[in-house]
Amino acid sequence: MQSAIQQNTFADDVQRGLSANPKFLSSKYFYDDEGSRLFQEIMKLPEYYLTRAETEIFRSQTKEIYEAFAKQGETFDLIELGAGDGTKTSLLVDYFLKQNADFKYVPIDISAEALNYLSEKFNASFPELAVQPEQGDYFRTLETFKTKTDRRKIILFLGSNIGNFSQPQAQDFFKSLRAVMNPHDALFIGFDLQKDPRTILRAYDDAQNVTAEFNLNLLRRINRELGADFDLQEFSHYAGYHPIEGAARSFLMSRQAQKVFVKALSKTFEFAAWEPIFMEISQKYNLGMIDDLAQMSGFKVVRNFFDGQNFYANSLWKPL
Ligand code: AVJ
Repeated sequence: MQSAIQQNTFADDVQRGLSANPKFLSSKYFYDDEGSRLFQEIMKLPEYYLTRAETEIFRSQTKEIYEAFAKQGETFDLIELGAGDGTKTSLLVDYFLKQNADFKYVPIDISAEALNYLSEKFNASFPELAVQPEQGDYFRTLETFKTKTDRRKIILFLGSNIGNFSQPQAQDFFKSLRAVMNPHDALFIGFDLQKDPRTILRAYDDAQNVTAEFNLNLLRRINRELGADFDLQEFSHYAGYHPIEGAARSFLMSRQAQKVFVKALSKTFEFAAWEPIFMEISQKYNLGMIDDLAQMSGFKVVRNFFDGQNFYANSLWKPL
């Protein structure tokens, strides 16, 4: 099992994934410029309910969230892992500032471009807010926490990004996070909940095929960055939902027996007809699973916030 916090190069990971049986590629590589653009499109799709559900929670329960985060007059660092475009966070930030909260915003993202965009947006909307962007992956992030001062940390991990980890990986990740947190720090996590499996499946198999493009774009990236010759026409997106595991998974299926050469690896990979490449897991949780995950990684659930349909939960955790 690959650890959630292990660091490899793109070429290493492609080499390992395409040599494995079953083949896999890591969804963390989806987000090149085009992939980030496609994900923005996904968030607007009628089938992709996740973003709207989380936004509804942030809009309808801003006050409750704020009060659960901090007492009047307390200072803190609001740290966001995988900040993206910060749309949901800006709802909290706007309210916090109106309450005269004393805090700094520290967005952390792998994409420098996303961070620049985000910082400019926040500086323009909230001139009085101190924004301190940090570029890097989650692992590097944990390292920087150790050297940080004693200010209280409220760590945001939103957007169901945790869904891209298997459950053991999620546990590893939160354990590592726990190790660099102080007893009075807090963690605020977005979980997509188990629901009608058809609703979930549609979110990963949209009618406009944007999700298919999003997956295929990783093959395009391998072609461009590693000099491969994937023929995108010869792979087709397939999504599935497994109701016992609560896992949505997506695959690219090889439509025929074919060979793909990857120049940077000086290697040819063979695909059988209808052989899958496992691309992404999007784990769905129930409340018991959230409690167990918190417990097993050294936290307790303080409070869950839900949207009106109970599609989604934002869960506030504190160290045990
Ligand atoms: C960004 C990981 C939350 O799994 O729902 C959307 C990514 N993949 N459609 C998700 C994604 C296909 C998304 N996360």
